Amino acid sequence: MAAIVAVALFILFISSSVNALSLNYYGKTCPRLDSTVTTAVKKAIKNDKTVPAALLRMHFHDCFIRGCDASVLLQSKGKNKAEKDGPPNISLHAFYVIDNAKKAVEALCPGVVSCADILALAARDAVALSGGPTWEVPKGRKDGRISKASETIQLPAPTFNISQLQQSFSQRGLSSKDLVALSGGHTLGFAHCSSFQNRIHKFNTTQDVDPSLHPSFAANLRSICPAHNKAKNAGTALDSTTAGFDNAYFKLLLQGKSVFSSDQALLTAPTTKALVSKFASSQMEFRNAFVKSMIKMSSITGGQEIRLDCKVVR
Ligand code: HEM
Ligand SMILES: *[C@@H]1O[C@H](CO)[C@@H](O)[C@H](O)[C@H]1NC(C)=O
Ligand SMILES: *[C@@H]1O[C@H](CO)[C@@H](O)[C@H](O)[C@H]1NC(C)=O
Ligand SMILES: *[C@@H]1O[C@H](CO)[C@@H](O)[C@H](O)[C@H]1NC(C)=O
Repeated sequence: MAAIVAVALFILFISSSVNALSLNYYGKTCPRLDSTVTTAVKKAIKNDKTVPAALLRMHFHDCFIRGCDASVLLQSKGKNKAEKDGPPNISLHAFYVIDNAKKAVEALCPGVVSCADILALAARDAVALSGGPTWEVPKGRKDGRISKASETIQLPAPTFNISQLQQSFSQRGLSSKDLVALSGGHTLGFAHCSSFQNRIHKFNTTQDVDPSLHPSFAANLRSICPAHNKAKNAGTALDSTTAGFDNAYFKLLLQGKSVFSSDQALLTAPTTKALVSKFASSQMEFRNAFVKSMIKMSSITGGQEIRLDCKVVR
């Protein structure tokens, strides 16, 4: 009996430790990992200021589907259409940055570091190099073997209301505070017209434009994105300080100057609204909360292996 219990405990220990993350995970096997990734990210940003937003969004997308397992990096193969080729891929780009970082890491410590860890580190660097906070990334994620375009419907949509957003986050162990703090990621980057079309044309049967939008802000969005918009790449910055990581997103949100319905929705429940106000008035509160929530989100694990090329399973 005691032996059975011991074996059961041992198995439990093994299975729970498989994906346990730790700060020093590569301390012996790849001590220069962090700086190697940072160098690759820095180099890319020098040539393209849209890289930080892309890396942050990529990591979020990765973590919300099958956990942070680099499933977002896999390319379609044969009949299988990968996440990359699913509808919400409109904002995904700069995959080459992860490929370059992976190459540099492989040259240093072959076959040891997961693509999922590299993406988590690159997202951290993206925030820090944009003037945001920095933090130590727990490591030890494994890469997954499955990526399906059809699963991208599991990502929260920009048309979601507050209960849909809360449900999407709680299914992944994330709280309302995480939801508000992480929505602050919209301090970086760009949105295409299709992502906020619902707010500026045919909002509902009685209102053409979402009345919660500030009138001049709405007028500007409508001029960028006319009803029968033909310019596929048209769109707008997510906040007025698009390349800088700060709490401007929350200040603008309180003024009716957010881009997505899902941003505006944060004002429709008392608890989330209070957090928006708190983050709008304190850069420090936002930065601290963002770091905590990023570590939580990036600790949703899911994979099994260490890929050699981030685009293909082993
Ligand atoms: C709360 C639910 C969320 C929804 C509904 C949402 C939705 C979207 C949408 C629709 C876009 C623009 C796509 C386009 O038109 O190109 C976008 C962009 C972006 N999102 Fe979110 N998002 C959410 C949460 C997050 C989180 C948690 C993060 C990271 C912490 C994040 C970071 C970003 C960034 C950085 C961009 C800009 C990407 C770029 O410019 O390349 N979002 N988001
Ligand atoms: C998005 O998906 C489409 C269609 O599957 C594909 O042609 C396009 O290259 C993808 N875009 C990105 C950035 O991967
Ligand atoms: C959010 O949308 C869902 C689905 O359309 C609906 O059932 C729910 O009542 C809505 N919740 C709020 C708070 O509007
Ligand atoms: C349209 O939206 C406004 C503002 O949210 C709301 O007050 C109104 O009831 C909505 N109308 C319909 C028919 O849903």
